[in-house]
Amino acid sequence: MNAVLADSAFLRAARGETPSHTPVWFMRQAGRSLPEYLKLREGVGMLESCMNADLVTEITLQPVRRYGVDAAIFFSDIVLPLKAVGLDLDIVAGIGPVIANPVRTMADVEAIPDLEPGHVPFITQAVQQLVAELGATPLIGFAGAPFTVASYLVEGGPSKEQAKTKAMMFSAPDVWDALMRKIGAMAAAYLRVQVEAGASAVQLFDSWAGALTPGDYVRHVMPHSAKVLADAGELGVPRIHFGVGTTNLLSLMGEAGADVVGIDWRTPLEEGIARVGDRVVQGNLDPTLVFAPTEVMTARAGEILEAGRAAKGHIFNLGHGVIPSTDPSQLARLTEFVQAWER
Ligand code: CP3
Repeated sequence: MNAVLADSAFLRAARGETPSHTPVWFMRQAGRSLPEYLKLREGVGMLESCMNADLVTEITLQPVRRYGVDAAIFFSDIVLPLKAVGLDLDIVAGIGPVIANPVRTMADVEAIPDLEPGHVPFITQAVQQLVAELGATPLIGFAGAPFTVASYLVEGGPSKEQAKTKAMMFSAPDVWDALMRKIGAMAAAYLRVQVEAGASAVQLFDSWAGALTPGDYVRHVMPHSAKVLADAGELGVPRIHFGVGTTNLLSLMGEAGADVVGIDWRTPLEEGIARVGDRVVQGNLDPTLVFAPTEVMTARAGEILEAGRAAKGHIFNLGHGVIPSTDPSQLARLTEFVQAWER
């Protein structure tokens, strides 16, 4: 890694060092809020675009060009590795991932192939192209955490209650354990491919972990996420761990082996910082504040930046992904505001 990149505000903050300014990027910064993305995606399926290295490269760069954010996030999806090993799945517009044959039995788990780098040559190519283009701007690689990916596999699609997923966890712990091991290894392999190709940080998305009690998280989920984070730790890059509705899980998500804990917008940042202790935090502006007048949005961002001073380090972000109807010019003003803020 070149010295300018290693010294970037994002990587300094992620390592708990003092950056020149509080770095900012946005979860889901690439995608439907950008007209240039919608244009590129015309007639191209979501998964098809994720498997085309040139499209991935261009889509990942779009928000970096537009906003000058402090990091790029690799354009892909948490279910892409499942598609790459041959599972029959699709990402349906407005719905999300849909799995043709949900996983219910030990035989179903055993039938899922392990991920080899040879399954994802387009990922290696896209990361290499991106790192060359991005120069001093870090590229964040990512994977879905075992619980969140398992929820799509077991439910067959998006679910509010995660009832079938939790039913497997409670009633067939051996099948559950095998499934979590299988997709945990897949997540670790997917992160390894991205980092070996040049990604300089990783984020593990456990978006739906908020469905769990702390006790069930500790018993049935945390060891598997911890294994993915430990494997990623061997690669020597900062690890971000994020979930939604996870107020009660934040300290555990840090203990699982994260360098940076993502805080969703429902938890006041002060409280999130108190819960994660001596770790860097990321977040956590309510994504709907972009629909407020600019000065209302920036006043809230200012409160979050102030609160962030109490943490070991702070990476500014929204408290969940960019909402597709977001006006990109608001995100441009928000980026400018955060980067100009005097620490
Ligand atoms: O810019 C970025 O953040 C990188 C791209 C990215 C996508 N998915 C692209 C995408 C990332 C990091 C993800 C991760 C992801 N995918 C998560 C974790 C993050 C989170 O939001 O909590 C989850 C839970 C998924 C599963 C998934 N994929 C959902 C819920 C959806 C949305 C369904 C919809 O259409 O509203 C998707 C589809 C998806 N992933 C889109 C994009 C740009 C929209 C598809 C399209 O453009 O047609």
